[in-house]
Amino acid sequence: MKRAGNTIFITGGSSGIGRALAHRWHDLGNTVIVAGRRRGALEETVAGRPGMTFYELDVADPDAIAAVAQGLVAEHPDLNVLVNCAGISGAEDPTTARDLSRGEKMVETNLLGPIRMIDALVDHLKGRPAAAIVTVSSGTGFVPYPAAPTYSASKAALHSYTLSLRALLGNALQVIEIIPPQVATDLMEGLKDSPYSVPLDKFANDVMAQLISYPSAEEIIVDEVKPFRFAERDGTASDLVKAMASATG
Ligand SMILES: NC(=O)c1ccc[n+]([C@@H]2O[C@H](COP(=O)([O-])OP(=O)(O)OC[C@H]3O[C@@H](n4cnc5c(N)ncnc54)[C@H](OP(=O)(O)O)[C@@H]3O)[C@@H](O)[C@H]2O)c1
Repeated sequence: MKRAGNTIFITGGSSGIGRALAHRWHDLGNTVIVAGRRRGALEETVAGRPGMTFYELDVADPDAIAAVAQGLVAEHPDLNVLVNCAGISGAEDPTTARDLSRGEKMVETNLLGPIRMIDALVDHLKGRPAAAIVTVSSGTGFVPYPAAPTYSASKAALHSYTLSLRALLGNALQVIEIIPPQVATDLMEGLKDSPYSVPLDKFANDVMAQLISYPSAEEIIVDEVKPFRFAERDGTASDLVKAMASATG
């Protein structure tokens, strides 16, 4: 994707990775529109940033996606980049009957959210120069974190969907998958203070460096996620998942 001069819509721009990337893209000279459910957090994201605007949006609500997409295209006909960063996570124990509502919400948000968002904007984006669709999967989509099985499965499915989309779109537009390692955000309890989390600023800087150095990149793979991304290839996936299962009890 181009370094500057894009009009970028980012779901999950109200905090964490989405906000960090939104600020960096804005710093580089892009028009940036963020979305999320929390109005106050969105106001904080855009504060002091001329031209940056937001939409309140719940990506688990198909009607809301359709309405926002319609408004976006009308208000920002130059829109050429969609970044699907909204996501939720959470621990679950699949070895015993449980309340599935939280896991179902993860699938709705992390998988159906991007599918619906892409569906709502793909026809517009195909007509724009230098257009791109970005998905944000996870290292756990490649080696599942057993304590978060539905979350991991939603990210594996998102990776698969991204591959299909890229193959089918061909040269019509670029499809980029950002694959974060564990990053210090509020996504899950304990992530911010964990010594195993990559600091948010470091991660966001590394992502931007790769996007700028490799403008035709298909996957953004920072160093810390390589053991997960390439675990199947390296024959280490089975041992890694077992190690993570025993670490989480
Ligand atoms: N942090 C990590 O270790 C890690 C690792 C791998 C992948 N990721 C992925 O990175 C992405 C960003 O997560 P993060 O770590 O930055 O966590 P975060 O700070 O909790 O950010 C999650 C973002 O998603 C938005 N969101 C959640 N549900 C939504 C919904 N139904 N509709 C609209 N927006 C929604 C939140 O905004 P509102 O609450 O305002 O709606 C927030 O802006 C997620 O897709 C996550 O799965 C994170």
